[in-house]
This record gives sequence, structure tokens and C-alpha cells, in this order.
Amino acid sequence: MDWGMSHRLNQLMPGGRCFFMAMDHGYFQGPTTGLEKPGETVKPLLPYVDALFCTRGVLRSSIDPSSSKPIILRVSGGTSMVGKDLANEVITTSIEEIIRLNASAVGISVFIGSDYEKETLKNLSELVNTCEDYGIPVMAITAVGKELEKREARYLALCCRIVAELGARAVKTYWCEKDFEKVVRGCPVPVVVAGGPKCETELEVFEFVYDGIQKGAVGINLGRNVWQNPNAEAMAKALRAIVHDNATPKQAHDIFNGSKKTHHGYSKVDVSV
Ligand code: 5RP
Repeated sequence: MDWGMSHRLNQLMPGGRCFFMAMDHGYFQGPTTGLEKPGETVKPLLPYVDALFCTRGVLRSSIDPSSSKPIILRVSGGTSMVGKDLANEVITTSIEEIIRLNASAVGISVFIGSDYEKETLKNLSELVNTCEDYGIPVMAITAVGKELEKREARYLALCCRIVAELGARAVKTYWCEKDFEKVVRGCPVPVVVAGGPKCETELEVFEFVYDGIQKGAVGINLGRNVWQNPNAEAMAKALRAIVHDNATPKQAHDIFNGSKKTHHGYSKVDVSV
């Protein structure tokens, strides 16, 4: 592997693990709850995460360029929640723009099993062809659109293997309760666990993240379960402990409880993290 590619991957996954903060939702959902002002939402979370996942629009408008946090640029889009089909995506961002914005990686969705399977897999292949020339890793996202019930091991394993075969350097996919280890085992590149709609409890989030990592995922790319939580900083701190320090769900829950806001302000938050 060339030095540039290796350097970017090492920056994104220090020690082989990663906590990516997803904040790209506006590209098809508009001003998602909690992300109306993305810069303000993410600022207190920055010390806990390894990279931000966002579009060029949010990057330019909302992220301080003096920040050294690596950026994974979302480069697929062109659809919306109110349009005909979320799967009908195109590549939205040129290689010149990716380089100009100093992205450490790019992310692109594929919709396997949809009417646009071939188009989205072609988008991925072309993006890999271009980005590999410049040592920029491509993270493929096995998207399901509104069909959340598709998130089971056989389908996810199929998707992860296909995108790795097409050249993705990492895959972001959903965690599933049964046989997630088979999804990871069948994928020759690092697997990152995606989030999904906000869970009922914090413990539920800690449990699926912990299970995913135990079963071989290298980390997480989470959004709503962090910044839609009223104690987003405490969530980020607890999740970081699972990803980077092998904390159990119970230990993460204790960290969360010890760090969450009281009516006096924050209690026990270690701001040095
Ligand atoms: C949307 C995405 C998001 O980055 C991904 O879904 C993670 O965010 P969340 O944890 O809120 O689901 O790729 O297509």
C-alpha cells in the first residue's frame, strides 16, 4: 500500500479502531433534528471522535478549517426523502474538490438489491478508480434506504463482500443481532458499524456497538444516537471508551451516567479526553 493511502487510513483508524461522527444526514433528509446547526452540534463532540463524515457543503459552512480532525467526505447523493427513489444516487463531488478540501477519505452509498444496484455499484467502481490514483480511501456504505428490514446477516454479508471486491478500502454496514460475525468474516476489508434511528435507551446503543466490535468490526460511524441524545457529550465519551478502550456496555453506561449533565451543569466530564 502506498504511503499516502496508509497514512490516511492510520489517521482515520488510530490503533486500528475508529469512531466516525456521522453528520451527513442533510444530504437527503434536510435539517435533521439535532443537526439544524451542524457546526454547533459537533463542536463539543470533536475531542471524542476520530473523524467527521459530512458533505462539502457542511464542511465549508460549518467546520472550522483550523481543526485537525480528519474528514471523510460524503460524495454520493442527488436524491431526497420526498423524491421517487433514495437509491438513485450519483457521484456529487469531483476528485479536484476532494483533494482541495483535503479529505482523508470519501464515503459513497450503494443500494444492492434495488432498482439502482448496477448504477450505484458503477458509481463505487468509478470512484475507486479515481481515488486510488491519489491514495484516497473509499468507504462504501451498504445503504438500505427506507427498507430497514433488509438489515440481516445474509444480505449484509453479500453487500460487504461485493463492495470490497469492487475496491472499497473500508465498508460501513449495519450491525445485526444474529450472525454479525459472518458479515465481518466474509469481508476482506475493515467493517465499520453504522448507526440507524435513535434507540430507546443508551444501554441498547452500547450493547450493539460492543457486540459489533467483539465480532470483528473496527469501529463505528454513528450520528443520531449521539447528537440526538440530550447528553451527547456523555454519549460520545462512553462510545469512545468501547471503541478504543474495550469498555463493556456496563462500563460505558457508568461513564455515561458519570458524565451526563446535571441541573448544575456537567458532572465529572473529563475535558482532557
Ligand atoms: C446516511 C448515512 C449516515 O452517515 C449513517 O446513517 C449514520 O448515521 P446514523 O447513526 O444517524 O444512522 O450514511 O446515509
